[in-house]
Amino acid sequence: MNMIFLGPPGAGKGTQAVQICEALNIPQISTGDILRNAIKNGTETGMKAKSYMDAGQLVPDEILVAIIRERLAQDDCANGYILDGFPRTIPQAEALEGIADIDLVLELNVSDEVLINRLSGRRVCPACGATYHVNMLNGSTKCEKCGAELIQRKDDAPETVLNRLKVYHDQTQPLIAFYEARGKLKKFDGAKDQQEVYAEIMEAIGTNA
Ligand code: AP5
Repeated sequence: MNMIFLGPPGAGKGTQAVQICEALNIPQISTGDILRNAIKNGTETGMKAKSYMDAGQLVPDEILVAIIRERLAQDDCANGYILDGFPRTIPQAEALEGIADIDLVLELNVSDEVLINRLSGRRVCPACGATYHVNMLNGSTKCEKCGAELIQRKDDAPETVLNRLKVYHDQTQPLIAFYEARGKLKKFDGAKDQQEVYAEIMEAIGTNA
C-alpha cells in the first residue's frame, strides 16, 4: 500500500511512520531526513536546501519532486511505502499524481499549542535518528538506543517553529481538501497518546488493505 502522512510539524508523522513501516516492512520516505542528509554530505541539493530549512520555509517544489521521482523508482518501493513530509504543496501533489498511485492519506491533526510544546522540547539523535521529548529523558542528554549525545534541530528554535506552522497552514493544509475530494483521506487525532494513535492507524490500514 502506498501511503502519505499529512500533518503539521510536530504532529507525530515521523514517530508513527517509523513504527508502521517496521510493522509492514516497507520504507519510510522522509523528505526532511533526505534533505538533512544532503546537507550533512554537502551535496548540491543540500547546499540549495539549507537556507530554506533553517528559516522554516519550504524548499522549492522542483527540488522535492526530483528527489521523490528518483526515490520511488528504487526497488524497495515495489511493495508499498510511506511518504513522510511529501507532498507539502498543491503543485507537489499534482506532480505526484504523475509519478505514483497513492492508496491512502493519513492526516494527523494537532493544535498549534500542543505542537509548539512538542517541538520546543524535541531532541533528536544525530547518529541513529531516534526522537525524544525532554520530558521523557529524566535529565539525560544521551540517546537511549545508541548512547550518542542528543541535539536540538535548528528549525525547532521557537521563532522558526512559529514560521513552520504558518507555512503549514498557508501552503500544506489545502492538501486536506485535495485528498478529501479524491476519497483518499483518513483523519486521526494526533494529540492522543502515541500508542493509541498507532493502533487507530493500523486498524485503518487493515480495513483498506
Ligand atoms: P520535516 O523533517 O518533514 O519536518 P516537519 O514536517 O516540520 O515535521 P517534523 O519532523 O518536525 O514533525 P513530525 O510530524 O515528524 O513529528 P515527530 O514524529 O518528530 O521537514 C523539515 C524541513 O524540510 C521543512 O521545514 C522544509 O524546509 C523541508 N522540507 C521537507 N519536506 C519538504 C517538502 N515536501 N517540500 C518542501 N520542503 C520540504 O514528533 C514531534 C515530537 O512530538 C517528538 O518529540 C515526539 O517524541 C513527540 N510526539 C510524537 N507523537 C506524540 C504523541 N502522540 N504524544 C506526545 N508526543 C508525541
